[in-house]
Amino acid sequence: MQSRGSNVVVLCARIGRQLSEPALGRYLRLLPEDEREAVLRMRRWQDRQARLFGRLLIHRGLRLCGAAARLADLRYGEQGKPYLAGSEVEIGLTHSTDVVAAALCSGGMVGIDVEEAGKVERTVLNKVMDAGLIAQADGWRGPIDATTRLWTAFESIVKADGCGIVLGSKHVQLECDPQSPWPSGTLHGRRWHLAPLSPTDGSFGYVAAARPIKALHIHHLQFAPPRNPSRNTS
Ligand SMILES: CC(C)(COP(=O)(O)OP(=O)(O)OC[C@H]1O[C@@H](n2cnc3c(N)ncnc32)[C@H](O)[C@@H]1OP(=O)(O)O)[C@@H](O)C(=O)NCCC(=O)NCCS
Repeated sequence: MQSRGSNVVVLCARIGRQLSEPALGRYLRLLPEDEREAVLRMRRWQDRQARLFGRLLIHRGLRLCGAAARLADLRYGEQGKPYLAGSEVEIGLTHSTDVVAAALCSGGMVGIDVEEAGKVERTVLNKVMDAGLIAQADGWRGPIDATTRLWTAFESIVKADGCGIVLGSKHVQLECDPQSPWPSGTLHGRRWHLAPLSPTDGSFGYVAAARPIKALHIHHLQFAPPRNPSRNTS
């Protein structure tokens, strides 16, 4: 009998320093034309690299998983959720100041969110979340501040569902054992299983999956020179 759990592959890279024109050109040639144009439409180089690296991570992830899908199959749902047309591999993307990460899962829907620890403002939570949910996080204990944990747990669920912040904001519920960094949540009647990850020093987030996460495989890739070589963990 097939197990109901899922294996999730996470690939991450630092945005790093600005790529040289030849390096940018080489990477862009790996992308289908519409994706290439979307990268080049970004005005800031940091945003161009974040978008580009997200696609490169999916490209590498698909090869790693031995999936038949290609970047040319990449599409976006009504609210912006990325998916691969005709493939059973589900994907999620996130970027923060210096980290880009992609999650791939062939056992059901997946979402991912990563932030620099300590950078999420409490006021952001107050704007979009139910007050009860915020109060609940005050009891969370652990090395990462509760605001970052709550926000990334919330966003990973909203992104796994695909509904986005506006439609999901007041409907996410989290259950958390105060001693455990592994909450689970519900949104729109569906249960989401979470697993924490720290892709780089100082960043933290969650993967949310429709099935219990049996294994989380994390791969670090490097596409650009690091901003601060001493902090690079790739
Ligand atoms: C999904 C959402 C929470 C992501 O917020 P964010 O701050 O951009 O988060 P991250 O940087 O971690 O993730 C960005 C990635 O999320 C993915 N994404 C965008 N919309 C998504 C959605 N509805 N579901 C799942 N993933 C989504 C994209 O692939 C994006 O990466 P890309 O720009 O390279 O394609 C937010 O964009 C959202 O709510 N979108 C839905 C539309 C909406 O409600 N807009 C109003 C926003 S206040």
